[in-house]
Amino acid sequence: SIAFLNGEFLPLSEARISPLDRGFLFGDGIYEVVPSYQGKLVGMVPHIERMQSGLASIGIKFDWSMDKWQTVIDQLLEQNGKGNLGVYIHVSRGADTKRFHAYPDNVEPTVFLFCYDIPSSPTADASKTKGLKVNTQQDLRWQRCNIKSTSLLGNVMHFQQGYANGYHESLLFNENNELTEASSCNAYIVKDGVVITPPLDNQILPGVTRKILLDILRKDGSITVEERVVNMHEVKNADEVWITSSSKDIAAVIEVDGQPVADGKIGPVWQKAMQLFSEQKFN
Ligand code: PDD
Repeated sequence: SIAFLNGEFLPLSEARISPLDRGFLFGDGIYEVVPSYQGKLVGMVPHIERMQSGLASIGIKFDWSMDKWQTVIDQLLEQNGKGNLGVYIHVSRGADTKRFHAYPDNVEPTVFLFCYDIPSSPTADASKTKGLKVNTQQDLRWQRCNIKSTSLLGNVMHFQQGYANGYHESLLFNENNELTEASSCNAYIVKDGVVITPPLDNQILPGVTRKILLDILRKDGSITVEERVVNMHEVKNADEVWITSSSKDIAAVIEVDGQPVADGKIGPVWQKAMQLFSEQKFN
């Protein structure tokens, strides 16, 4: 596949960066994954905006305009065929001449993009959709989870602990037994027809799929949405549990810690939400 590195399109297998790149040494960078189905991107503008605000929050000066991003991403998709692709975008602080924690001056950020296959967009047809099984773990990541940092070891360790035990994902809870998110997704419960998701704060990533989904549901108005604290007791007693991300759309969870969610089948609110989301997500 074809990648983009520091201004150049080249085969991914030929892309090289310095071992002194601070992305490599410190995880000092910001990333995004933008989904694209048959050449159509979902949420490119909010993804780029989130990256720009993440870069500003860690003092990386990188001033590509939205048009510049659009051009590079379009060219990358063109060169990689227009399948179902996750466009990975990574800007790290760049390569210094030494290893020193402080932000260096006059270092050029490293810009890297490549594409990888993601599953085709799920339909609202529950009979064709596989529900996910998750476990729960105490959230042991840092306290700035709103920054989409390339330092993902905390997320990786949580995901691995679930994966090694046969789970698709792990729901995380804080020291007050409140749901935060999953190791690579935002999390939701449905109770009595209401979709409930933890509020945006430093404990979770402000997911673009979350934003698009909540906007669509609020605009439609047939399903009530609440952003509020959710405790783990509510998760265990929910009618439905969902997780969302750019590579998963809205995935229904049918088992938590070995216990079925309600009757263990994908629920009707998921079907309705997924139908609205599939119809409107490209808008
Ligand atoms: N993960 N929370 C975390 C910790 C995430 O890593 C992600 C995305 C999300 C969902 O955000 P969005 O809807 O903007 O993709 C929530 C990406 C896809 C990844 O790391 O592969």
